[in-house]
Amino acid sequence: MRTPLVAGNWKMNGSRAMATELMADVHAGLSGVSGVDVVICPPFVLVPQCSQAACGTSVAVGGQNLDTHEPGAFTGEIAAEMLIDAGCEYVIVGHSERRALYGETDELVAHKTRVAFTKGLVPIICVGETLEEREQGVTEEVVTRQLVAVLNEAGSEIFPRAIIAYEPVWAIGTGRTATDAQAQDVHALVRERLAGANSAAAESTRILYGGSVKPQNAAGLFSQPDIDGGLIGGASLKAEDFLGIIRAANS
Ligand code: PGA
Repeated sequence: MRTPLVAGNWKMNGSRAMATELMADVHAGLSGVSGVDVVICPPFVLVPQCSQAACGTSVAVGGQNLDTHEPGAFTGEIAAEMLIDAGCEYVIVGHSERRALYGETDELVAHKTRVAFTKGLVPIICVGETLEEREQGVTEEVVTRQLVAVLNEAGSEIFPRAIIAYEPVWAIGTGRTATDAQAQDVHALVRERLAGANSAAAESTRILYGGSVKPQNAAGLFSQPDIDGGLIGGASLKAEDFLGIIRAANS
């Protein structure tokens, strides 16, 4: 049995006032919800505040990125140790925005995964194809390539603790969601590839779906056999929407 997980990726959004309100609303809305792990990934500067707000609640906090180096002369970067010190248990690695806008390669994402895991964070590893790649019929190749890079560098032993998020790039922030069946197909493929590397872990590894998940489409996606929750962008910025998605994962 895999406990569903719903993670909110605030991206570069929020303020201290917004974080205070949203954390309180999410916490209040979670009473009576016990069967879902909930993670909030705020921008770095809001991590300490969110960790404090989450303290003693069932909500965990994650970073949106990390650097691979030990603490030192790396201006503008954040080390795994610092995330942990600030209260993070999770960290997103390889989000498609980081791959596309900040040039993160499969190798760098794999390296970040290894460092995050070794230091004690749970990596949420993002994979997914662009629209062009989907139209060219290479979704399988792309997702497999991204996954294999992680398996080669970080090892298959990071699963089932590590988490995968399948996020078709064309569905992120576009209002376009993969159909339940399209998402399930790729999730099944990811689980099959994982099983090839670590058959014992594949069944218990959580594979999240991300890309325009809303309260209205969450139940359908989460009812698919290989979808174990979601990585939520835009809808995680509104307590009501985020809670609606969490409830869909709980049912
Ligand atoms: P979205 O973002 O829910 O706004 O589409 C998902 C993500 O990028 O993780």
